[in-house]
Amino acid sequence: MSNEKMVRISATIPPKLLKEFDEIIEKIGIDRSKAIQNAIRSFLNEYKPIFEKEGFNIGSIILIYDHKARGLEEKLTDIQHDFSQVINSTMHIHLDENNCLEIIAVKGELKIIEKLSKTLLSLKGVKQVKLALISTKA
Ligand code: NI
Repeated sequence: MSNEKMVRISATIPPKLLKEFDEIIEKIGIDRSKAIQNAIRSFLNEYKPIFEKEGFNIGSIILIYDHKARGLEEKLTDIQHDFSQVINSTMHIHLDENNCLEIIAVKGELKIIEKLSKTLLSLKGVKQVKLALISTKA
């Protein structure tokens, strides 16, 4: 946590949204200020990469695929070898009879990470790909 000076903000939001927000932050056990800071960081992590295509990024690619899809697991391995410059590690979880979940930790140039993400999504048998980037700066 940095020692930078805090600023006070005010915002207008619908009561129902605030109620839901307060219920969740109470369960987590943090105060509103901390929760709003966290929400703003999540927002920045989600939208900043869209506007800032350059630079160094860290995060993960989460994918669900059909492990019975022919040749898919080999392709996934080949692709991950091709993109080893941005892959730190991969976690594999056998979800059920048909589905596997893979979590790929990524670190490096956003353009390469995005290319990896799109390449994975283009494969037959890959059902869902989610790229989640996080920042040490926000
Ligand atoms: Ni599996």
